[in-house]
Amino acid sequence: MAIVDLIGSSPRFRAVLEEINMVAAADCAVLVRGETGTGKEVIAQAIHDASSRRQNRFVALNCAAIPSALLESELFGHERGAFTGAVTQTVGRFQAADRGTLFLDEIGDLPLELQPKLLRVLQEQQFERLGSGRTLKVDVRVIAATNQDLWRMVQERKFRADLYYRLNVFPITLPALRERGDDIPLLVDHFVRKFAGRQGKSIDQIPDEVMAMFKGYDWPGNIRELQNCIERAVIMTSGPVLRPQMADLMTRDAATTATVRTLADAERAHIKATLRATNWVVGGQGGAAARLGLPRTTLIARMQRLGIARDAVVQPREGQQLSRAATA
Ligand SMILES: Nc1ncnc2c1ncn2[C@@H]1O[C@H](COP(=O)(O)OP(=O)(O)OP(=O)(O)O)[C@@H](O)[C@H]1O
Ligand SMILES: [Mg+2]
Repeated sequence: MAIVDLIGSSPRFRAVLEEINMVAAADCAVLVRGETGTGKEVIAQAIHDASSRRQNRFVALNCAAIPSALLESELFGHERGAFTGAVTQTVGRFQAADRGTLFLDEIGDLPLELQPKLLRVLQEQQFERLGSGRTLKVDVRVIAATNQDLWRMVQERKFRADLYYRLNVFPITLPALRERGDDIPLLVDHFVRKFAGRQGKSIDQIPDEVMAMFKGYDWPGNIRELQNCIERAVIMTSGPVLRPQMADLMTRDAATTATVRTLADAERAHIKATLRATNWVVGGQGGAAARLGLPRTTLIARMQRLGIARDAVVQPREGQQLSRAATA
């Protein structure tokens, strides 16, 4: 019933698959940790699919995507008239996931004031809808995910220790793609087949130097970035040999010699090449962040860390708009 085939055979990834099988049967809370794009959501779904709850619903909620004022009602539901604008009764995600699994993504963004309420459902499987005195009972398994350091947040008093311990009964840490480089060829093959199939192409050759470059790159956006990169490469390819845009992975010079100096160099070159390809547009659809599979803010932070600045930038004088024509 899996939506995605989980690809990987490296020791690190096999260990994760074993953990999934163990924890699926245990029916306890799970905390999935990992960088962006490492597969936290697909792993949560896999745990649900391998558990005895698989006949029931897998409900996902991204705590960072909902304004905090609405999150409580989203989780627990509300009665008609519970607050201005509550015109009908609404069932919350906990009730929707009854006898199934609730996946709480970006749990680090759960506001402090809601954390005791979540702890209570985890412990007692009981809650009340907003505006109701009636206690509802549910049977929900919670799988939470984060790419933040929750323990550090506990020390900084941004996350409650009691909730942390409750969620951390069974932590699963997903390796970054660069830590499981052995899986890259498998993933590349898988995505090439997937996208070629979709686009009605038959691509059955991946040049060694292309694969070497895929293996040498740092993949800050992990599997999602690799997937986006292959999708673009398949679009660009006509004929049986995969022809990724080398600019996607590094500068032209580096591509011809296929040597990567350091990972930071490769990352810098890749980000710069992507920025040039998007005419230095960072955000939005088609912007560099989307192409790299990174949140815009992450890309900006990384550009600062790697010292990436627009080439030949004309500094605007104060109060003067920097127009594209002036700097292109
Ligand atoms: N082992 C895998 N095999 C094949 N595809 C995978 C695997 N892991 C993840 N993917 C794919 O990679 C993409 C990113 O996965 P997912 O959305 O689960 O990551 P995430 O860790 O939740 O990312 P974010 O932190 O950005 O939310 C998805 O398209 C998913 O289908
Ligand atoms: Mg996710």
